[in-house]
This record gives sequence, structure tokens and C-alpha cells, in this order.
Amino acid sequence: MASDSARVIGEIRRVFAERGDSAYGGEAVSQQEHALQAAHLARIAGADAGLTVAALLHDVGHLLHDLPDDAPDDGVDDRHERLAASWLARWFGAEVVEPVRLHVEAKRYLCAVDPSYERRLSEPSRLSLKLQGGPMTEAEVEAFQSSPHHAAALALRGWDDEAKDPHAVVEGLDAYIPLIEEANRSSCGDLRGER
Ligand SMILES: [Fe+2]
Repeated sequence: MASDSARVIGEIRRVFAERGDSAYGGEAVSQQEHALQAAHLARIAGADAGLTVAALLHDVGHLLHDLPDDAPDDGVDDRHERLAASWLARWFGAEVVEPVRLHVEAKRYLCAVDPSYERRLSEPSRLSLKLQGGPMTEAEVEAFQSSPHHAAALALRGWDDEAKDPHAVVEGLDAYIPLIEEANRSSCGDLRGER
């Protein structure tokens, strides 16, 4: 894990500049608008730096591959949560990486434990659910609940589901630079403490 926050900030700026205008699935917002709205919702909910950065970057995996925006329409799951988690693990610790890795599992979990949740999902989200494995089985629910990061993943999932408002006015990427620096610093501190 690199302690160079200037490098990660440069990488984040680059991927959003190059791909942030792409469509967020079949929703009425771009990838960057969705990311900034999710981060805004995390911040006003009082999330700490790590979870706010996780909200900001939870879908960065969509910006790291060359599949088309409408890949789910062709029956393709881009596995963006795994791509994002591997990419983020270069700079951040579990408090950022794990909620991102689990945010698709959180949707499958909520569909299993709360039937009304699936009915409230947007159409594109319902379509991707099928490709992602559908609602969890009982054994999967138990395994998910045993993760120390499941509560953070559920919180992130809630902001993810809300962050699709084409009329929302929120802060830009610059507002999150200090939180990215803080999350990167504390991840490196954790790593030193583990030695
Ligand atoms: Fe999302």
C-alpha cells in the first residue's frame, strides 16, 4: 500500500476526468454525478473519512474496464466491485476497501432479508441483481452478517441506491481531497501498527 496520497489523488482525478462522464448504467446520472452524490450522502450522514471515501469510489471499478455501459443488457456482469477493491487496496485499508468489495453483496443480502427492498430497486439495479446471483441464500446471509464490515457495506448500499438524482447539486471532487488524504494516511498507520 503506497503512502503517497498525491499519487492516489492524481489517479482518482485521472479516472474521473477520462471516464466520469460515462453513463451510470441505465440511470439518469453520470458515473461522476453518482459518485459525488453517494459521497455527499455519506458525509451528511456523519460517516468517517474511510467510509466517505468508500462511498465516493465504490463504483470506480466501472471506470477501470473497457466493457460498454450497457453490458448488463447483454447479460454481462462486469464484477466492478472486485476490480475496485483490488485497485483501492493499493492505497487504502479495509475501512475503504471492504465496504466497496461488499456493496454488491449488500444488495443481494437486502433482497434476501427484506422483500420490499427488491421492489424498490431501479430497473437497471434489478437487472444487474440477476447477473450478480440474485438474493442471497440463508448460508450466504449468515456469512455476510459475520463480516466485520457488513454494517458499513449496508450503509454504503443505502447511499448508492439514493445517489441517482439528476437534479441534485453537490460538492465536486475537490471537497473530498482532505478525506482521501486522511484515509490514505490512516491506512498506512494501520499497516505500520500490524508489523
Ligand atoms: Fe453505485
